[in-house]
Amino acid sequence: MPITATYSQLVMPDHINNVGTLFGGQLVSWMDLAAAKTCYRFLKGTKAWGAVTKVIQEVEFNEPIEAGEWVTFNGTVTNAGKTSITVKIDAFAESRQEEKRLACTARIVMVAVCEDDQGNFIKFEHGKTV
Ligand SMILES: CC(C)(COP(=O)(O)OP(=O)(O)OC[C@H]1O[C@@H](n2cnc3c(N)ncnc32)[C@H](O)[C@@H]1OP(=O)(O)O)[C@@H](O)C(=O)NCCC(=O)NCCS
Repeated sequence: MPITATYSQLVMPDHINNVGTLFGGQLVSWMDLAAAKTCYRFLKGTKAWGAVTKVIQEVEFNEPIEAGEWVTFNGTVTNAGKTSITVKIDAFAESRQEEKRLACTARIVMVAVCEDDQGNFIKFEHGKTV
């Protein structure tokens, strides 16, 4: 079974850009959080402290999102390397009247980290497979 996680956000007025729709940088930030949550779940049972973002790839904004809509991010681990974890994120927007629509997608590479003796975060070999 692939590891998945879901994260939702309500789009509030302070998330809006100057053309009246959800600011893309805000959406990417939420996708990054959804990837972090997916990795949190993937890394359960290991000694990793967490995972940090290494690369945000293939971000595609398909549809504008409006204030007042809910956005649900579905994260799925698609690949696991020695320290890396690749997460596919699908962002679905939902208005009061219509069905969910796939508004944005991205692929995010995270790297598992742990703390060394000096308190610095370093790469961690998680030992997990997809
Ligand atoms: C994350 C970090 C510890 C990784 O250290 P590094 O020495 O740069 O790591 P590497 O080059 O060995 O890459 C680590 C893994 O990422 C993969 N990776 C690196 N660049 C990649 C790219 N462009 N595309 C896909 N995977 C990539 C590597 O293949 C490696 O995977 P593997 O261990 O599974 O084989 C370090 O780069 C760092 O601290 N970056 C800043 C992170 C950060 O601040 N993020 C924002 C806040 S969360």
